[in-house]
Amino acid sequence: MNLPSDFKHWSSEICHILEDFLQHHLPGPHIVPQKLHEAMRFAVLDGGKRIRPLLVFAAGELVNAPREALVVIAGSIELLHAYSLVHDDLPIMDNDTLRRGKPTCHVQYGEAHALLAGDTLQSLAFQWMSEFSLHPDPLVQLSLIRQLAVAGGSRGMGGGQAIDLESTNGLMSLPELEAMHLKKTGALIRAAVLMGASCGETLPSFEYRQLSHYANALGLAFQVVDDVLDAEMDTATLGKTAGKDAAANKSTYVSIMGRVQARNFSEELLKTARESLEAFGPRRNRLESLANFIVNRRS
Ligand code: IPE
Ligand code: IPE
Ligand code: MG
Ligand code: MG
Ligand code: MG
Repeated sequence: MNLPSDFKHWSSEICHILEDFLQHHLPGPHIVPQKLHEAMRFAVLDGGKRIRPLLVFAAGELVNAPREALVVIAGSIELLHAYSLVHDDLPIMDNDTLRRGKPTCHVQYGEAHALLAGDTLQSLAFQWMSEFSLHPDPLVQLSLIRQLAVAGGSRGMGGGQAIDLESTNGLMSLPELEAMHLKKTGALIRAAVLMGASCGETLPSFEYRQLSHYANALGLAFQVVDDVLDAEMDTATLGKTAGKDAAANKSTYVSIMGRVQARNFSEELLKTARESLEAFGPRRNRLESLANFIVNRRS
């Protein structure tokens, strides 16, 4: 994929800052209870595209947010995301055995520890969000914590996952599918963008609205592309089992509109996302590159 070299350099720098933070702030593997802490670290470290953290940093740059605050928000969102993946892979949900090219957390540590690792990663995310200083105004910090709670909750990611589990009868309409995707994946992506943009200078309301349009389009595009890749790519490239959605009879953009239309729809969403950024002039470059990456990725 043709991404600007400046973007590649920036994203590897951000990933490095994030890994360093996660390595040092996740409980060490030798701390009791060791197996739980190992499982938490296994689920978070060493893998993943780190899209949500990159979005936090890219949006944070728009408002000159300090990196010390952005890394805490990015790390906390990544913990919530990792928890969602651990639970998503459990036998009672998608029953997957491969994630990020490794055995899933429950295959490696057993179902009970995977369940607990997911639960405690979620708690740790809120511990970090409340323990580190994210903004000089405590009301802004509280609102950041609230945004993360809403994004992960029953009207956000958790609720979207519930709808997903009920969606295996193949009867979902397009608006229902869109609503499910906006929750199960869109909510955390949207939170990443808007939280990053909330921990610096205040954005003018027009710019905030445009950023919010961008975040919605991108959140939906992310899951549309995930659905397409599940149908088009192989297991080795994805690092997770390919073809699972069709095998489980899930309602996805591919099952409802077909692969070609789903791909076209992701391109339309990319266009919407890019247009929403026009108001930002050259300041939009990183967010635009991230949108290109999300829609054109191969895994
Ligand atoms: C996978 O997310 C789950 C979805 C929300 C579709 P990612 O594709 O961001 O997974 P990692 O973090 O790169 O492994
Ligand atoms: C999961 O969607 C979204 C989450 C909130 C974890 P999928 O079930 O499609 O994610 P993958 O394909 O297993 O990564
Ligand atoms: Mg799932
Ligand atoms: Mg899954
Ligand atoms: Mg999927």
